[in-house]
Amino acid sequence: MATARSFGNYDLAAALADLIDNSIKAKATRVDISFEPEESDVVVRIRDDGAGMDLETLKIAMRPASANPQDEREPDDLGRFGWGLKSASLSQARVLTVVSWCDGAINAARWDIDDIDDWGMEVLEGPEAEGLLAKPRKSKSGTEVIWTRSDRVLDRDVSFSFDDSLTYAIAHANQRLSLVFHRYLAGELERRLTISVNGRLLRPIDPFMTSHDATQTLDADEIKTASGSSISIQPYVLPHFSKLTVEEQERLGGPEGMVRNQGFYVYRNKRLIIFGTWFRLVPHGELSQLTRVRVDLPNTLDSEWRITVDKSDAQLPAALKRRLQDVVRRFNRRSFSVHRKKGVSLDRPEVQSVWLRYVKSGQVRYRVNRDHPMVASLLDMDSISGNADAVLRLLESYFPADRFLADANGVGVNQCPTSTEEFESLVHQCVLNFLQSSDGSLEVDEFLDFIRDVEPFSSQWTYTESYVRKNTAKKWGMKNGF
Ligand SMILES: Nc1ncnc2c1ncn2[C@@H]1O[C@H](COP(=O)(O)OP(=O)(O)O)[C@@H](O)[C@H]1O
Ligand SMILES: [Mg+2]
Repeated sequence: MATARSFGNYDLAAALADLIDNSIKAKATRVDISFEPEESDVVVRIRDDGAGMDLETLKIAMRPASANPQDEREPDDLGRFGWGLKSASLSQARVLTVVSWCDGAINAARWDIDDIDDWGMEVLEGPEAEGLLAKPRKSKSGTEVIWTRSDRVLDRDVSFSFDDSLTYAIAHANQRLSLVFHRYLAGELERRLTISVNGRLLRPIDPFMTSHDATQTLDADEIKTASGSSISIQPYVLPHFSKLTVEEQERLGGPEGMVRNQGFYVYRNKRLIIFGTWFRLVPHGELSQLTRVRVDLPNTLDSEWRITVDKSDAQLPAALKRRLQDVVRRFNRRSFSVHRKKGVSLDRPEVQSVWLRYVKSGQVRYRVNRDHPMVASLLDMDSISGNADAVLRLLESYFPADRFLADANGVGVNQCPTSTEEFESLVHQCVLNFLQSSDGSLEVDEFLDFIRDVEPFSSQWTYTESYVRKNTAKKWGMKNGF
């Protein structure tokens, strides 16, 4: 039992994921996870509303290697080797208690690493088992796994307080579970799975951003293995960073995370088991950073893929390597061009509009373009307090859309500055920005280039250009050029 602690490579998220696998197998629709800090310990409870276990099943389930890995698995079975429950739990805590109820009965069983001299598993029945639950049962059947003396839940760094370490550990686990089970959380399967952590529901993180307009879905492929099962392969190219909202970028781990997490995303029964690796199939740097390839494995392939107990690692069967390599090469070039688009915008200018329009899940949202030079300079000036961004978000969120629609259909709307004065003061402000962002000298042509594709100047270019040329010399005291 003590040895089970070091099986596999569990961190908190991986251990929780293994228990959730068990809940899924038990046909649970809901998993509630709670962390209760106690002095220098934290009690972790993972409760599901699945089928539960009777006393006999519970005793077998608590046994090490309770299942034979050679047995044929149900197609939706996410388990493996009959070790998950024990080794995942004991990798995080010194005491594992499982309370389970079904058919009107409730039982519990416990392993305590520090107290197994007699190789005994403690078994509790009826009210005694009930007493271990912190909250009353709501479902007819279900299971609650309880970790106590959780010495490894907190990967403690002495420079952080206990509370901070816990908060960090939970945040990391949340992020990971939202990704690992995203297809379950999004309801892609028959039964939608709901997972809550300390009362907060997890939202799915789709690593392919399939609902984003700018995501490219490339041609799918299928590989038949020797044993007759099929592996499906679906490459995607993510939108360039500049097409994503701040929130979207954050959910993908920011631009840095997006790059780090390129590669294959391998799923076993729609549960993500490995991600962000090219399995060394392609030399580093050869592929676009925005490419992600979904690989779906049925679980009959476990022995071919040598999936380890904690499901964190899978090696490619040699026969599949070349096929995957071909697939990767095929879409390589295309993904590259997406990434470069931004860089070539000087040759093929795009207008820097003040507003950007996003479509997500069929709904439209307008956002202020953070890259517009004047907006960008405002944000730069205020990069420390973040207040400017907060104000922009406030304006975006409270734009009177309903009223606007009514007016547009009724009296008519004109939002553009009509007075020349107003327009000229905008140009003036832009000159100041330009001076700040350049080394202080004003080259007229450079400045004109700077604002040529920027709203509102782009739409009134002839006027803007003549106005700027007329005024640079006398009004703005330029050093070079004229
Ligand atoms: N949440 C649960 N609900 C119902 N049964 C469970 C649950 N967790 C574990 N079990 C039972 O315990 C057995 C052992 O689980 P585990 O140690 O994770 O191994 P495996 O998942 O490989 O079978 C499972 O096969 C299942 O019968
Ligand atoms: Mg399991």
